[in-house]
Amino acid sequence: MSKRLTILGIAGSLRKASYNRGALRAAQQVAPDDVKIETFELDAIPAFNQDNESPLPAIVTEFKAIIRAADAILFVTPEYNYSVPGVLKNAIDWASRPYGDSAWDGKPVAIMGASPGMFGAARAQYHLRQMFVFLNMYPLNRPEVMIANASERFDDGGNLTDEDTRQHIRKLLKALAEWTRQLQKAQA
Ligand SMILES: Cc1cc2nc3c(=O)[nH]c(=O)nc-3n(C[C@H](O)[C@H](O)[C@H](O)COP(=O)(O)O)c2cc1C
Repeated sequence: MSKRLTILGIAGSLRKASYNRGALRAAQQVAPDDVKIETFELDAIPAFNQDNESPLPAIVTEFKAIIRAADAILFVTPEYNYSVPGVLKNAIDWASRPYGDSAWDGKPVAIMGASPGMFGAARAQYHLRQMFVFLNMYPLNRPEVMIANASERFDDGGNLTDEDTRQHIRKLLKALAEWTRQLQKAQA
């Protein structure tokens, strides 16, 4: 078997029973054998302040090292006011700095998102895709994982209970692993 890939999963919610953190836990449970999903919680990342880029806060330096060590990134985003929650954008901004030393550069990336509404955080996901252009990340186009009507698919603790959704997430992870290996081969 080829080398096991490390995917870094980052959920854009701090909420205890978060649907999106639950979707990320489900991803860890259904990941194919050749994939290991590590996670990073955003609680300790401070509010971005460009005055504090040099030196970076220690937690941001640690975050950037974890991003760099990963083969690929999986963002799991809620939708706030039709866009990406501030905590996630804040973390993305930190790890992109200082200019010229972004940890995101050249990383394969996939997105999923959950919302109690009808669109499964689709609008936030497309805003994230726009960020990947400047960040020079390589997004997986399909499958898209937009988990709508989340209150029917997760329990009160934020655990994903819907089997179809779990299988859809597994498909995304398989596609991300294949995409990552293709890019690694092309860069070798
Ligand atoms: C400030 C705020 C704005 C929101 N805006 C949207 C929105 O634009 N679209 C949507 O589908 N849900 C919206 N919601 C509802 C969230 O989808 C819901 O709170 C969801 O549970 C957040 O994700 P989480 O469970 O992972 O924390 C919003 C919630 C908050 C707190």
